Amino acid sequence: MDASTATTLQNLLARRRSVRRYTDEAVPLSTLLNILSAGQGRTSAEGKRAAPSAHALYPLTLGVIVRRVEGLQPGFYAFDPESAQLKLSGPDLEAGVLNEAALGDETWLEDAAVVVAIIGNRELALQHFAEQQTDGLRGARYIDFEAGAVAQNMYLAVTAEGLGSVVVMGFDDAAMKSALKLGESSHPVALFCVGRSAD
Ligand SMILES: Cc1cc2nc3c(=O)[nH]c(=O)nc-3n(C[C@H](O)[C@H](O)[C@H](O)COP(=O)(O)O)c2cc1C
Repeated sequence: MDASTATTLQNLLARRRSVRRYTDEAVPLSTLLNILSAGQGRTSAEGKRAAPSAHALYPLTLGVIVRRVEGLQPGFYAFDPESAQLKLSGPDLEAGVLNEAALGDETWLEDAAVVVAIIGNRELALQHFAEQQTDGLRGARYIDFEAGAVAQNMYLAVTAEGLGSVVVMGFDDAAMKSALKLGESSHPVALFCVGRSAD
């Protein structure tokens, strides 16, 4: 299969699969940045991004737990959509804290080379869409919907890069917020594990 056939959209959709077993291999930094850019990278002069956002509000951010990335020290990074670069925002999380906040035994949260936390500013979205609210939850629904688009973009980019990933949403919201040491207005919506598939 030539490279262009391997990365056509139909081909990527057919090959995209959730992967929960990873090797110890490190991920190249350029590969990781491609994946994050597929999720939240800037794609227009006026600041629009790869994934859609209601009113172009962009209430999501990507927090990146780096364990094994070539040329990058382990730690907690923030992805900057404007520059498509990672900025160190804190030390590496202690081993086990992500799985402890999970509802089941999700060992892939601990084994993946990288875990991307899709973080939502729920209050911003609720406030922004307050006039559209019929049940008081419209902004929150938008956040979940947008996180799905971000995750799917990243799944396809991971597939194109020959790596594996899985989205994880089965966690205790408060425990995961505390494990990630997020500020008051930041809430974990989904985690996205990335690594070289061991299957
Ligand atoms: C909203 C949502 C939540 C999910 N949460 C988890 C999870 O907590 N843990 C996990 O291992 N997989 C999780 N998954 C992955 C699904 O189990 C997976 O997509 C499903 O088994 C279909 O397999 P596929 O992705 O390989 O097509 C989630 C998927 C979605 C869409």
